[in-house]
Amino acid sequence: MDALAILDFGSQYTQLIARRVREAQVYCELFPWDAPAEEVLPLKPKGFILSGGPASVYEPGAPRIPAYVLESGLPVLGICYGMQALAHALGGRVAPAQRREYGPAEIEVLQENPLLRAPRQRVWMSHGDRIEEAPPGFRPLARSANSPVAAMEDPARRLYGLQFHPEVQHTPGGAEILRAFAVEICGARPQWTPASIIETAVARVRDQVDEAGRALAAVSGGVDSTVAAALVHRAIGDRLTCVFVNTGLLRRGEPEAVVRTFRQTLGARLVALDATETFLEALAGVTDPEAKRRIIGEKFIRLFEAEARQHGEARFLVQGTIYPDVVESSGPDRRKAARIKTHHNVGGLPPDLGLELIEPLRYLFKDEVRQVGLALGLPEDLVWRQPFPGPGLAVRCLGEVTHERLERLRAADAILTEELAAAGLLRNGTAQAFAVLLPVRSVGVMGDQRTYAEVVALRAVTTEDFMTADWARLPHDLLARVSNRIINEIPGVNRVVYDVTSKPPATIEWE
Ligand code: XMP
Repeated sequence: MDALAILDFGSQYTQLIARRVREAQVYCELFPWDAPAEEVLPLKPKGFILSGGPASVYEPGAPRIPAYVLESGLPVLGICYGMQALAHALGGRVAPAQRREYGPAEIEVLQENPLLRAPRQRVWMSHGDRIEEAPPGFRPLARSANSPVAAMEDPARRLYGLQFHPEVQHTPGGAEILRAFAVEICGARPQWTPASIIETAVARVRDQVDEAGRALAAVSGGVDSTVAAALVHRAIGDRLTCVFVNTGLLRRGEPEAVVRTFRQTLGARLVALDATETFLEALAGVTDPEAKRRIIGEKFIRLFEAEARQHGEARFLVQGTIYPDVVESSGPDRRKAARIKTHHNVGGLPPDLGLELIEPLRYLFKDEVRQVGLALGLPEDLVWRQPFPGPGLAVRCLGEVTHERLERLRAADAILTEELAAAGLLRNGTAQAFAVLLPVRSVGVMGDQRTYAEVVALRAVTTEDFMTADWARLPHDLLARVSNRIINEIPGVNRVVYDVTSKPPATIEWE
């Protein structure tokens, strides 16, 4: 498969570069800028992209372009810091601009060239230093008000530099620029399609598992674990056993949907355990959020271990690790990323199960996982499902988790979901939307009766990456309908409130 290598100089946008290249159906992988050649070159890249980054080329110890990149004679595209590093390495002049250029800008294209076709283009800038003089052999391709060399090219050596960020949405022609570099300049064939992803993944799994090997997969109903299991099922059929633990903390209809998807749609072997009582007994009287997470995580692991013992012949365990997890846990913020992961991976399994991991999604972005899921025939609802935390409704049922309170919460959540779906806001318009049951009661009046009942909070957010989020501006009429239905249809609830806090300072979940 033709591929590009992207060297990461630390920009917050590096993963976006990879996503845009993959959207052009060209495979690419990310490497830290200082990865040794032995790690990068086995990919047999057709070209290199150097990302942006926070450094300045004149700082002592500033990241440099590794020698093997320019020695390879392959095309190189430097973006922002990547361009400055290229200019610095090849004898151009880089200097601090008088002021930082941040935000939208317009570039004027000076020469006909294969990357920038329109004469004027809107782009997104974010840089302190700028290139005052292109290195020998280069010609400037574009300028902006603040950058005399906003893009440059050495056509003989096929080296390119862009001062702006083609990978972000705010550069409308950016995806086309990256496609043109990958396909036309590097000559990489666009071969990275759902069908070829499936073919590659299935072949890898067959290789790893050999003729007779057996595997287990813990499935939760989430997109990643389902697509991972579906791929492995396609590779080894009935030698895969899927294990689904119903914790009793799922949303309405979810346990049934998991069973339906695996048994009917995929025809996979599924062991479905109903552990509702085990989890609710362990959670009785517990109100502390961290304690809830810990208890659920431990119980889950113990149940899975016991089930794995029943399938002693299995040597492999399927995990739905996706590419951003892999990249984040090997980057400069390794330790921080690792900590966030353990916190979020309740339901994650410990490494000492004695099983070898199969990770068929290890090289895929979330969008690609979804495309693969659709190509494998998984239901649309599942493929487009919003994220759902491992500890489930326990962290949305604030205070004590009981059967009765969970039922109340499930009913409220189902109403919100139904109304959002009817308004067309479930897939577009909210990244995550759910109900939270608060551990307080308030006074109300219904008919002539005074009531004293629980409060439901509605939470809906928009976000790209779930690291920051804004509360969704849901239509007032929709909120009114949801509120009326919750109060009328659910005994024990007499008040509905809407959460109007962004993240930060709040988190998306309430616990
Ligand atoms: P917060 O609440 O931290 O959530 O803003 C960010 C995203 O992570 C999800 N989340 C979890 N996912 N296990 C998970 O698999 C967890 O323990 C967990 N806690 C939060 C949350 O739903 C949101 O999408």
